[in-house]
Amino acid sequence: MALAVKGLEGIVAAETKSSFIDGEKGILEYVGIAIDDLARNSTFEETVFLLWNNRLPNKAELDEFTGMLRDRYELPPGMEQRLVALPTSAQPMHVLRTMVSALSMHDLEPNKVDLPSARRKALNILGHVPTLIAYFDRYRRGLPLVHPRKDLSFAANFLYMLNGKEPTPAMVRAFDICMILHADHGLNNSTFTARVIISTLSDMYSAITGAIGSLRGPLHGGANEEVMEMLGEIEKLAKEQGKDAMEVIEPYIMDRLKRKERIMGFGHRVYKTIDPRATFLKTFSKQIAADTGNLKLYEMSSKIEQIMAREVGSKGIYPNVDFYSATTYHSIGLKLDLFTPMFAMSRVSGWAAHCLEQLADNRLFRPAAAYIGPHAVAYAPIEKR
Ligand code: CMC
Repeated sequence: MALAVKGLEGIVAAETKSSFIDGEKGILEYVGIAIDDLARNSTFEETVFLLWNNRLPNKAELDEFTGMLRDRYELPPGMEQRLVALPTSAQPMHVLRTMVSALSMHDLEPNKVDLPSARRKALNILGHVPTLIAYFDRYRRGLPLVHPRKDLSFAANFLYMLNGKEPTPAMVRAFDICMILHADHGLNNSTFTARVIISTLSDMYSAITGAIGSLRGPLHGGANEEVMEMLGEIEKLAKEQGKDAMEVIEPYIMDRLKRKERIMGFGHRVYKTIDPRATFLKTFSKQIAADTGNLKLYEMSSKIEQIMAREVGSKGIYPNVDFYSATTYHSIGLKLDLFTPMFAMSRVSGWAAHCLEQLADNRLFRPAAAYIGPHAVAYAPIEKR
C-alpha cells in the first residue's frame, strides 16, 4: 500500500459548489462570487442563503430567510438555565461546543437527516449560537442577560446582546463583514470534520459540535487569539525594556523565527500568497483601528507583516485571515477569548452548507491507513514483559 499523504495535502476528498480557492493567485469565491465583492456589497444573512442555495436570493426570499433566522434567536426553554449553571471560569469555545451539543436534546427529531430537516436544524444552530455566546459572556461577567431583538440583524443583535446597548452602524457593518469573510473556506479541517461526521448519517448537531472542536485548535481558528496574545506580549516586552513597541518587534520576531517557532496568523495550507480575506481585512482593520484609537495595533501588525515577507515570504508564508481579524475584533471591543467563537459563529454557515452537500450525495468517508507496525508478533504473557 502507498505511504500516507501527511495532512492529506492536495488530496481531493469531496466536491463542493460552496467556495473556490486558488491558493497561487489568492482567489476566494463563494458560489463564484469574489469574496471582496460580497464583503463590499452583501450581508451575512444573504451570504448564508447563497451558501445554502448556491444562488443569491431575491428580496422576498431574503426577507423570508432572515425572518426564519430571527425566529431562532431565542433559545429553547431550559437552555438558559443550563447555561447559567456552567462554571464562570469555563472557556467560551468549550461552552459553545457543549451547548451546541445540548441543543440536540431540545429537538424532538434530532436524528433526521432528510434535507428539509437538516436545513431546519442548521437554521436552529445558526440562530442560537450568537445567543449562547453572548449569554455566557454576560453571565460570567456577572451581568444580567440581554435577550435577543428580532428587529435587529444577525450582527447587530449579537453586539446588542453582548454589550447591552445598540451598536453603531459602523460597528455593525464591521462585524457583518467579518462574518461574511469567515463563512466558508473549502475543505478546511473543521469543515472536513463536519462532513466526515455527517457522512455516517449522524445528525447536524453532532457534525457542528465536532467541527467546533476542530476549529478551536491553534493551527486552525484558534490562531486569531494567539495573534492578539503576541501583540500583547510585544507591548509588555517594550514596557519592560522602556522602549516603544515598534522598536522591539524586529528582535522579537527574529528571535522566534530563529527558535523555529511559528508566528500565528501566517501561513496556510492552500494559500501560497496573501490570503484574500487578509487583504480585505488589512485595509478594513486600519480604518476601524483608527476610528477606535487602536491604530498602534494596526501599525505593529503591519510591521510584523513586512518582516515576515522579508524573512519567509519566499516560502509562500503570508498573512492569513486570522492575522488582521485579531486587530479588527479587538477594535470592535471583543474580549480575546471570544475571537475564535466569532469565527465559529460565522463558520456554522459553511459547515452546514457542506453537510447539506454531503447529505445530498452521500458516501461514507472511510479512508485507509498505511500500516507501518510489525507483523506476526507472538503474544507475551504479562509476567514475561
Ligand atoms: N511561521 C513561521 N514559519 C511557518 C509558519 C508560520 N506561521 N507556517 C509555516 N511555516 C514554515 C514551517 O516551519 C515550514 O518550514 P520548513 O519547511 O523550513 O520546515 C514550512 O513553513 C511549511 O510548514 P508546514 O507546517 O508544512 O505547513 P502546513 O501547510 O502544514 O501548515 C499552517 C499550515 C496554517 C498549519 C501553518 O502555516 C501554521 O502553523 N500557521 C500558524 C497558525 C495559523 O495562523 N493558523 C491559521 C490558519 S488560517 C485560518 C484557518 O483556516 O483556520
